Formats: sequence, structure tokens, C-alpha cells
Amino acid sequence: MGFNYERPYEKRIAETMETAPDSWKEQFWDCVKDLAEHPVVLRMKLYPHHGNSTCYQHCLNVAYHNYCLCRFLRLDYVSAARGGMIHDLFLYDWHTHAAQTGDHFHGLTHPAAALKNAKKFFELNRIERDCIINHMWPVTPLQIPRTKEGWIITLTDKYCGARETSVRG
Ligand SMILES: [Fe+2]
Ligand SMILES: [Fe+2]
Repeated sequence: MGFNYERPYEKRIAETMETAPDSWKEQFWDCVKDLAEHPVVLRMKLYPHHGNSTCYQHCLNVAYHNYCLCRFLRLDYVSAARGGMIHDLFLYDWHTHAAQTGDHFHGLTHPAAALKNAKKFFELNRIERDCIINHMWPVTPLQIPRTKEGWIITLTDKYCGARETSVRG
């Protein structure tokens, strides 16, 4: 998986995965591997996100939590994992974005930016598109999830974001 054990959050996620059944871990990586190793997706490693995490690590965390929760709930865990892996593919550092572009509404605009980038490089199904464009609800009150997997990512995104923000070091 390529986790960096020196970083507390990645260590914790890696440990969480240790407790998952082996078949689930391998199948998770099979679900997202082509996305996670794509050069455009790898660019997210350049951009810091919450706490010490990068956009890439955050997306990987969300993808994994989507996968586990949706698999447990017998939903489409493949699409949920894939949507999670690229849900924040906006490709800029949001900490400096407003100063550089004048866009002071990153929180509202980045799902559309991520979907535009994702569509450019990948074939997306309805659930994957829903996960990307509606993951910020209720911050974006008019962008309401249309699928069960889309509702799940509104939770996993905030959960992972909060955990990443709380881990320093
Ligand atoms: Fe986001
Ligand atoms: Fe996110």
C-alpha cells in the first residue's frame, strides 16, 4: 500500500487495515489501484490538505472508509471506493488558492473542479459522480447526494478530515 509509518495518521490507517480481513484489503487495493497510481491522481501528493495529510492521503483514507462501510452495508463499495479516491481531485493548494485566484469559496466550488478534472481522465458512473459532486453536503446545501454511497461519503469525508486535522507530528 505504500503507507508512510513515520506519519501518525497513515500509521493509524495502516493499523486499521491490519485488522481488516486479508481478502478485503487486497480487494480494496484492486478497486482503486488504477486510480491511485495514475499520474494525475498522484499529483494530489503535492498539495497539503487537513493537518499533516496531503490531498492524496485524505482521498485514500476516504476511499478506504467508503469501501469498508459500503461493503458492510452491502452497497456498491467498488464505486464508493473509486469515487472516494478522486473526490478531491481539484489539484491546487486550497490554503493559497484564494490569494492566487480570488476564489474565496473553495469549500463550495471544489467539488465541481474535482468532477471536471475526474471526467477529463476517467470514465465515471452515476455513483462515482455523485460521490464527487455532492460530498460536501450540507456545506453545499443545493448539492444533495442522490445515492446511498453519496450519503456515505458525506460522513466519511468529514470523519477522515476531522481525524487528519487532529493528528499532528
Ligand atoms: Fe472536498
Ligand atoms: Fe475530502
